[in-house]
Amino acid sequence: MKTGVYPGSFDPITYGHLDIIKRASSLVDTLLVAVGTNPSKNALFDVDERIALIRQCVGDLHNVVVDRFQGLLVRYAKEKNANTVFKGLRAVSDFEIEFQTALVNRELEPQVETVFLMTDYKYAFLSSSLVKEVADLGGDIQKMVPPCVEKELQEKLKQARMMPK
Ligand code: PNS
Repeated sequence: MKTGVYPGSFDPITYGHLDIIKRASSLVDTLLVAVGTNPSKNALFDVDERIALIRQCVGDLHNVVVDRFQGLLVRYAKEKNANTVFKGLRAVSDFEIEFQTALVNRELEPQVETVFLMTDYKYAFLSSSLVKEVADLGGDIQKMVPPCVEKELQEKLKQARMMPK
């Protein structure tokens, strides 16, 4: 049985992530979508909220399991008997950091292989940060995230605006 891990912040999940989840899940028996915390990013949704949104979006993919992880990604992968880590590549700008990360991860755990999947060209421009910015400025995000994510994001931004600065 082949298990793969697709890690990310998913703050929130976008159609670009979903495209990679569909591609990756067709290559393994089980795909773990592993939600982690990136200390260099200020998350809008907490991990439980992000997991709940992903679960709503991947309901029809029978071999996808949504999970959380902390600490080293390769340690998590090893604990779960996963020997493949999937990463989505959008543009050349992703390559540099992903190349470095993949080499560090190989150094830490040679048995875990990183596999890069090219996102659909339709989503090559897409990132969670951009979606949040566009939504915050009143732009249309319908083509970027599923309806349930759009609804929760608008609600979250409304709450954030009501918070005293
Ligand atoms: O790019 P993202 O989506 O913000 O990534 C978030 C996450 C949590 C997947 C990423 O920060 C990560 O892999 N963290 C694990 C830390 C780790 O293993 N570091 C060593 C390799 S450089």
